[in-house]
Amino acid sequence: MSRTVHVNGAYLAEEDAKVSIFDRGFLMADGVYEVTTVLGGKLIDFAAHMVRLDRSLGELNMPAPCDHAALLDIHRELVARNDLTEGMIYMQVTRGAADRDFAWGEMSPTLVLFTQAKTIADSPMAKVGLKIISAPDMRWGRRDIKTVQLLYPSMMKMEAKSRGADDAWMVEDGFVTEGTSNNAWIITADGTLVTRNLGTEILHGITRAAVKRYAQSAQIKIEERPFTLAEVASASEAFITSASAFVMPVVSMDGVPIGTGAVGPATSRLRALYLEESVKTAI
Ligand code: PDD
Repeated sequence: MSRTVHVNGAYLAEEDAKVSIFDRGFLMADGVYEVTTVLGGKLIDFAAHMVRLDRSLGELNMPAPCDHAALLDIHRELVARNDLTEGMIYMQVTRGAADRDFAWGEMSPTLVLFTQAKTIADSPMAKVGLKIISAPDMRWGRRDIKTVQLLYPSMMKMEAKSRGADDAWMVEDGFVTEGTSNNAWIITADGTLVTRNLGTEILHGITRAAVKRYAQSAQIKIEERPFTLAEVASASEAFITSASAFVMPVVSMDGVPIGTGAVGPATSRLRALYLEESVKTAI
C-alpha cells in the first residue's frame, strides 16, 4: 500500500509527491534532516529533535519551514494516516529551489516528511549484535550539522557489507569518531561507558544524550572522550546508539571478537533501560 507523505503543506500519496529538479537539496546537498522514532504510535524525544533541527538550520543560515507546533502536527498526522505504530519519521528540509548557482538569495525552504515502518524494540539484531569494520573518516568537518550529504557513510556501509559486516566505525587521527549513522560506545573492564565528547567531529546524537542521562541516573560511570581502536579491541563490550536502532550491541571489529564476542549483560541492561525510560516521555 502506498504511504501518505507530506510535501510543503500538502498530504499526498508517495507516487504523487514531487520536488523541483532545481531543488538545492538535489543539486548541492544543501539540506538537513531529522529522524524521529515512533514507538507505540508515539514520538520519542521529539523536542530534542526540534532543538537539533534549529541548530542545523542556524549553522547553515537556512530559515525554518514552520514552527515546532506545526511540525509536531505533521508528524502526528503522518503517524495517523499511515497507521504507524513502530518505525521512523524522516523530515527533510532543504534551502529550496532556484536557478543553479553556488550563491543563493532569499529562498523558501522545501519541507518533506515520510514514514518508514521498522521493528526496533524487538529487533532480532539486538540478540546477535553487529559486526563492524574500522574505516578512515573522510567526511567533511562539520559532522555536528545533520546534513543530507550521506555519500561517504553510505560508501562505508557498503564496504562493511562487502566484507560480511554490518557497519563501519570511522577513525580520524587515531581515534574513533562514530558509526556511519550512529554514535559509538565502548564499555571498559570496570564497567565505565566511554563515548566521544561532543564537537564538530560527530553528530550530537539524541539517543546518545538520552542514554547518557539514563545511565547517569542509574549511577553508571561515563567518560566522554575520544577512544582508539586498541581500546575497542580490549573493551569488554561495545554498542551503538541511534534513533533507528536505540542501544544496539557490537560484538566484533575487523573480524576480532570484542569481549566474549557475544551480546554482553551491560549493553542488554542499557538497551532495556532505554526502552523503559524513553517511552515515558514519548508524545
Ligand atoms: N542517523 N551519527 C550519525 C552520523 C548519524 O547519522 C546518526 C543518526 C547518529 C545518531 O543520532 P540520533 O541518536 O539522534 O539518531 C549519530 C539517523 C538515524 C539516520 O540517518 O537514519
